Amino acid sequence: MSETVKVLGISGSPRRHGNTETLLDAVLEGAREAGGDVEKVVLRQLDFTSCRGCNACHRTGVCVISDDLTAVLEKITAVDVLVLASPIYSMGITAEAKGLIDRAQYFWARKFILKNLYFTDEHIRHHKGIFVSTAGLGWENVFDAAFPALTAFFNTTGFEYWDNVIANDMDRYGGVGGHPTALAEAREKGRSVVVLIRKMQIAEEPGA
Ligand SMILES: Cc1cc2nc3c(=O)[nH]c(=O)nc-3n(C[C@H](O)[C@H](O)[C@H](O)COP(=O)(O)O)c2cc1C
Repeated sequence: MSETVKVLGISGSPRRHGNTETLLDAVLEGAREAGGDVEKVVLRQLDFTSCRGCNACHRTGVCVISDDLTAVLEKITAVDVLVLASPIYSMGITAEAKGLIDRAQYFWARKFILKNLYFTDEHIRHHKGIFVSTAGLGWENVFDAAFPALTAFFNTTGFEYWDNVIANDMDRYGGVGGHPTALAEAREKGRSVVVLIRKMQIAEEPGA
């Protein structure tokens, strides 16, 4: 069990410092305020390719591709909180975010084909996944097509899908900065996930 709560935020928006990355930053800021050890990765800055579907990982448990995503995927296995951010593009997540999720297929192969990766219920309880998203439209269901990919991603990588930090109607608000509550709620969510995991760590320390 780690002594600090490690938080990894991954921005899947191609637009730097746009609505989604700003909302992600608010979550990470809250996490930092609560004492979390926070890191952010911006997929747009990385050089990576999508999964080729070669299925070599079904035999080996590793991906044949070695590029900038390789280290990010391994980093995911070392954090307590994983925050994946993507705006809604064409009613789903961006190509960048989906590219990352598909490349995590080797974890799936380890779990379900090679059966040499198993996350205990306790592990999953201690590892929280958060989806951060924004959408232009004000439709209540505008995020619905994105959720299953996030569910698959968090399942594959051993995280409990803990919560969503989502804000729709960006077109009407003129961006996330014009939203009355989104940034404050995001910050609070970042704080509370770190506090929650830290409490679990302390409760399980020897002599607690
Ligand atoms: C290519 C593209 C597709 C989009 N598709 C949708 C969509 O299907 N539904 C929606 O509500 N907004 C859509 N939007 C709007 C974005 O979700 C919205 O502006 C979001 O806040 C952008 O986040 P960003 O500032 O991080 O880029 C789309 C924007 C782009 C550029």
